[in-house]
Parts: sequence; structure tokens; C-alpha cells
Amino acid sequence: MIETNITKMFGIKYPIFSAPMGPFFTRDLALAVSEIGGLGVLSNVNIVGTDPVEEHKKSLEFMIEHTDKPFGLNILTSRNNPGVQEMATELPKIVMNNPKMRDQCLYWLTSAGSSKFLPASKSFQELRKNSNVKHFHVAPAVWLAQKCMEAGVDGIVVTGGEGGGHQSYEKVSTLVLLQQINKTFPDLPKIACGGFATGEALAAALSLGAGAIAMGSRFIASKQSEFHEKYKALIPPGKPQDTALYTGSFGPIRLYKNKYALAHPAPGSKEEMIAYEQSIPPEVKALDSGAYDRVYNGDTETGAVLLGQSIGIINSIDDVTEIIERIMKEAESAIKNSYSMIK
Ligand SMILES: Cc1cc2nc3c(=O)[nH]c(=O)nc-3n(C[C@H](O)[C@H](O)[C@H](O)COP(=O)(O)O)c2cc1C
Repeated sequence: MIETNITKMFGIKYPIFSAPMGPFFTRDLALAVSEIGGLGVLSNVNIVGTDPVEEHKKSLEFMIEHTDKPFGLNILTSRNNPGVQEMATELPKIVMNNPKMRDQCLYWLTSAGSSKFLPASKSFQELRKNSNVKHFHVAPAVWLAQKCMEAGVDGIVVTGGEGGGHQSYEKVSTLVLLQQINKTFPDLPKIACGGFATGEALAAALSLGAGAIAMGSRFIASKQSEFHEKYKALIPPGKPQDTALYTGSFGPIRLYKNKYALAHPAPGSKEEMIAYEQSIPPEVKALDSGAYDRVYNGDTETGAVLLGQSIGIINSIDDVTEIIERIMKEAESAIKNSYSMIK
């Protein structure tokens, strides 16, 4: 058993979270992770072009129907995210009015926008006052962690640039970021994210002040994840060098190097990236947004394949239970091994 501030905060057995992976579905994955004793996270889904509030509502209903364990959800607070205002207003009401959801949907993770957005919602304030829900925000740099503190978050997800999917303009690695944030905000609850796939890495994160890890790519390569089999099939043979950062319509993003990715520029300075984003013609933007639907349907050549460097460590597509149990065993033996070095 490894008990941390995060396992205690959420009443979970293992300090392992699944990372949100919108715009794709992660219902089955979240369920599997929560059921075994980690904490599964529902993604902000808009892949099928439906109402994001409705999608989250269906996901919440699915979770409480199938498990009694805690879980979480993600809202992308970017102004460009369709339905963001409705999600911040309506989702807390839906959860507030359902006692089972209120007891279980404890982890509200916001990302890719302002950390102040959700706390500004009256219905979220009401929910927070009358439940044990916690608000975390993704912080990819020290100055952004500072902003999260000012927004009154309960904790942050410290995400480095080697992780899969959308990244900040900061491009700091997880190892450096964790050290920086641990020194600057020692008491702020932290979940480490970006590049994690083994128990040795979990042990490292714990020693760097995190109370848990969150994993995306490792969980895509699981039997329970809803990703297309062709998507999963890229992971076991993949190397860290098969992914790189590219610039698209919404800032830098770590993608598998396929035809789609290679048609986009590598990120330069923040100013260059913003200038590029503003110069993209509407027809190219439309093509970019269709990249998610294409990959969802198995087109891993012209679709956007979001993956992190951690694919270089993942050798098989496993059951979620196997992944979590193996990581816990590895972490415990890494911690014991480190302890035995103290003379
Ligand atoms: C397919 C995919 C989709 C993602 N979508 C989101 C998202 O909707 N919201 C978010 O905060 N992060 C998103 N991310 C980032 C992950 O939450 C997490 O930071 C990342 O996967 C960590 O790196 P790892 O893949 O090495 O574990 C996405 C990542 C992937 C791989």
C-alpha cells in the first residue's frame, strides 16, 4: 500500500489517475481505472459533434450506474471550446441534484484555459460548498501554477512537454517542472503527468512531491480504452522519437509523426506560434478539426494521433488491472530499493 495526500483526499486505493483524452470517449477506461482503485477521468467529448453537456451527462450516468467508486471529469476552459459556458453552469447543477453523482464525481479537472473559469460559476460554488468535490487545474509552468493558486484550486496537475496531446507554449519537461513546482509550492497537492508508464516513474514522482500520477498514452494501450485498434497498434512498436510537437489551430500539440502531423510546422517561439495560428485559413482549420473524427474511425495516416514520448516504454496492450497492479508493484520495490541505499 502506498498512501499519499491525493489517495487520502479522494479515498482511493492507488495513486494512479487516467488522464482526460478529449475529444475522444474515455468512459470504459475511466470505469476500469476507478473500479480497480485508481481514479478514472471522463473526457470533454465533442468528437461526434453532439452537445458536450449531454455527453458529460451520459458519461456521469454511465459511471454511477456501473461503479460506486470516485471518479472525475474534465472541462477544457478555452474560450474556443464549444459549450464551455454551459458545461461550467449546467454540469455542477446536474451533479448537485444527484446524490450518487455528488458523492462520486469528486475530481473536477479543468485545463487548456483559465483556472478561474470554473470557480467563477455560481453553480460550481454551490456544489463545492455542499460536497467533497475538488477542483484541480493543469499547470505546465510555475507561473501558471501561481495563477492556479490565486484561483483557489485544491491542487494542480503538473504536466510536462513529453506528454501526449495538447501542450502549453512553455515546453518544459516533466522532470524539471516537478522540481520547480515542488520547491515553489511544497504544500500544494500535485498530480504528476506526462511521460509516465512505469512504477519506477511513479516512485520518482512521489519523491518529487507529487501525490499521484496521471497517464494518457499508457492507458490508450489498454484493453478497455475506447481508442481504435489501429491507434493502439502504433504504441507497442513506437519509440519516443516517433512523436514530436507540432503547431495547429489550438497551440502546440504532441502527435505521432504521420502524414497529418508532418503537414504542420514545429512550434517556434510563442509569438511565432500565435502568428501561425491566426494565419490559418478557415478551410485548413476545418480540415484540422476533421482530423479527430478521421482518427476516431481508424484513419491513423491523415487523422491526428495524439501520443506522448512514453510510447517508447510501452511494450504491450494490457488489461487496466494488470497495468495498475504492475505499476504499484514496481513502485513499491523501487521505493524499498531507494530506502535500502540509506546507510
Ligand atoms: C489522445 C489524447 C487526448 C488528450 N486530450 C486531452 C484533453 O481533452 N484535456 C486535457 O486536459 N488533456 C488532454 N490530453 C493530455 C493528457 O491529459 C495527458 O496530459 C497526457 O496524455 C500525458 O502524457 P502521456 O500520454 O505520456 O501519459 C490528451 C492526450 C492524449 C494522448
